[in-house]
Amino acid sequence: MSLKGAPHSSSSSWDLKTSILLVFFLSSSSPCFSWSLPPSIVNSTEQHRHHTFISDFRVLTRRILSECPDPNPFLQINVTPDSNLADEENVTVTVSGVFVPQKDDWVAMISPVKNSNDVSRCPANELLYAETGDLSKLPLLCHYPVKAQYMSNDPDYINCTKKECKKYKHGKCVKSTCSGSLRFHVINIRTDIEFVFFAGGFETPCVLTRSNPLNFANPNQPLYGHLSSIDSTGTSMRLTWVSGDKAPQQVQHGDGKTQISQVTTFSQDDMKSRSAVPSPAKDFGWHDPGFIHSAVMTGLRPSSTFSYRYGSDSVGWSDQFQFKTPPAGGSDELNFLVYGDMGKAPLDASVEHYIQPGSLAVIGALTDEVNSGKFDSIFHIGDLSYSTGCLVEWDFFLQLISPIASQVSYMTAVGNHERDYPDSGSVYITTDSGGECGVPYETYFPMPTQAKDKPWYSIEQASVHFTIISTEHDWSENSEQYEWMRNDMASIDRSKTPWLIFMGHRPMYTSTDGIFSVDKKFVEAVEPLLLENKVDLSLFGHVHNYERSCAIYDGKCKAMPTTDENGGATYDNSNYSAPVQAVIGMAGFTLDNFTNDGNSWSLRRISKFGYVRGHATREEISFEFVNAATMEVEDRFRILKKQSAEYVDVSQIMTGFRGIAADEVERDRATDRSEL
Ligand SMILES: *[C@@H]1O[C@H](CO)[C@@H](O)[C@H](O)[C@H]1NC(C)=O
Ligand SMILES: *[C@@H]1O[C@H](CO)[C@@H](O)[C@H](O)[C@H]1NC(C)=O
Ligand SMILES: *[C@@H]1O[C@H](CO)[C@@H](O)[C@H](O)[C@H]1NC(C)=O
Ligand SMILES: *[C@@H]1O[C@H](CO)[C@@H](O)[C@H](O)[C@H]1NC(C)=O
Ligand SMILES: *[C@@H]1O[C@H](CO)[C@@H](O)[C@H](O)[C@H]1NC(C)=O
Ligand SMILES: [Fe+2]
Repeated sequence: MSLKGAPHSSSSSWDLKTSILLVFFLSSSSPCFSWSLPPSIVNSTEQHRHHTFISDFRVLTRRILSECPDPNPFLQINVTPDSNLADEENVTVTVSGVFVPQKDDWVAMISPVKNSNDVSRCPANELLYAETGDLSKLPLLCHYPVKAQYMSNDPDYINCTKKECKKYKHGKCVKSTCSGSLRFHVINIRTDIEFVFFAGGFETPCVLTRSNPLNFANPNQPLYGHLSSIDSTGTSMRLTWVSGDKAPQQVQHGDGKTQISQVTTFSQDDMKSRSAVPSPAKDFGWHDPGFIHSAVMTGLRPSSTFSYRYGSDSVGWSDQFQFKTPPAGGSDELNFLVYGDMGKAPLDASVEHYIQPGSLAVIGALTDEVNSGKFDSIFHIGDLSYSTGCLVEWDFFLQLISPIASQVSYMTAVGNHERDYPDSGSVYITTDSGGECGVPYETYFPMPTQAKDKPWYSIEQASVHFTIISTEHDWSENSEQYEWMRNDMASIDRSKTPWLIFMGHRPMYTSTDGIFSVDKKFVEAVEPLLLENKVDLSLFGHVHNYERSCAIYDGKCKAMPTTDENGGATYDNSNYSAPVQAVIGMAGFTLDNFTNDGNSWSLRRISKFGYVRGHATREEISFEFVNAATMEVEDRFRILKKQSAEYVDVSQIMTGFRGIAADEVERDRATDRSEL
């Protein structure tokens, strides 16, 4: 931009520098990578490139950054408000005094704000960061911007609609400048932020001017509270939240009950790195998470509504929220929401590290569902925030889900983007977690697991037993997780929970090939357990679409559903044959196409953003795929089971249907069916 207004000499020296850089860049990106990366990293980088649609912005961390030569004296960047930011705020960033607006002028939001050298070049990092997907041999920007926008997002900027005269001669304007404004959605990430105005696009950025640092009014504010169950009783609920303050806080709930928080955090040292290839989490993507508080509210009644707030007199209190406990295991009816691979997207026109374009529509629809009061719980089966080493993105994700996760339990499974990293014990040797290795995941989403880094567990809600595994940890025969899932599923009392739903991240069946091809070893090891234990339904994510199978085992249909006039499918498990399998990774990440239409086991394929509603009674579980854009149901299926003699437990039925006449029960069931 102002380069054009700068003196000729420095402008051409800039051009010279750029072309030297270009030559360097071209020569270093020649066919092979002279600095030898382990082949697994090279492969995963290729995968990553394929998988994430690497943008110029994504590889900013591999750019040389310098001061632009001789910025003009009128240049200014102003932010309103300019201090004491609220916990959520839309700030206006105005750049003014620009001589010649350029298409590649841009503004970054940077945090934390350290000394001025910090937003400069980091030549020492030259060899690093294959995870960004860029294998060229460039030095790095030290900071990864939280987000950025081109000034051209404001049409008034490029057109110079807002001219200001800076110099008059004989009453005539001889020097005028242009300006433009951008809206940035800012949430309380505790650390000060600054806005930096760059020329040169994302390819050859240079700093023109910077705002003053902006602070948050209360960096210690307790925020982003989200719920999870600790067991199957429905009488306790864990609340986890974030604050800049380390001292224990409280959750106050029900009739004046108080629980004190346990406080944890994680540090840069907890992020994994290989000595030769440091990860984003360990370096440019690191952001201080503050402190993660967690407390268990006890003495609750299942399927009931309570109110709560969290915080303390010294740091402040959250708003008052209402939440609903899930139904106790063994009770009658459950309504839940389930999906994988949601992620997040900015609430402004910014680009950022990793955007999942469908996430906002899906979260909007889920918020309507949860606000209806009809749902008891949520399951998000892997690939949660996609922060993948750019840690500030966990805060943005937590902020986005808090309208739903503050009301009902938000249960999770771990995905490759939370866990995988070379030499870290993950089954798959990829850099997909950007060095996080599950540490932020487990801290933000404490699940009722047995130990650290063993993220598998089961939980019962009403008539359903959910067995939730990690496809990223060893599941091979005789492994610890294998033994656990075998014991867990073998010990289910099917008279209490007639339904068994098995969930994890990577699927056993998909019609999307390529980098998603199914791991045959996983199927060989684990699928027999599903059959032996009469799993009714398996749900997986990872592939970004929706697909439903027949009752399937070993690649073959063991039973087909009947289909009603509306296309709804009914599987009868009264005489069990095999699990039904569904892929439900369509909640936000860029959708995948079905590359293979020839699978006879595949009964329904939809590549649209959405989520699944589940409804369970003792006799039936039913599911609906909801298109988030239209809220229309685009697939329905149900699984029926007449309770066989061996499963009927009269006392259960008596307590289950206490006080309801038999004919009323029949009527209720008929209504349930007609809703399908
Ligand atoms: C990397 O990919 C190539 C070709 O796709 C494959 O032959 C090789 O085994 C892979 N290496 C690793 C370590 O995964
Ligand atoms: C900021 O703007 C976005 C988009 O218009 C809106 O959704 C959000 O509610 C706004 N937030 C605040 C705190 O004004
Ligand atoms: C600004 O310029 C663009 C072309 O660069 C044009 O399409 C647009 O209509 C102009 N807007 C105004 C407000 O003049
Ligand atoms: C149950 O299904 C199997 C095949 O899947 C069949 O051989 C058997 O006869 C069926 N039993 C009943 C009672 O329908
Ligand atoms: C899926 O197919 C559509 C239409 O052919 C195409 O535009 C889109 O890029 C494809 N998506 C992916 C992820 O390959
Ligand atoms: Fe995944």
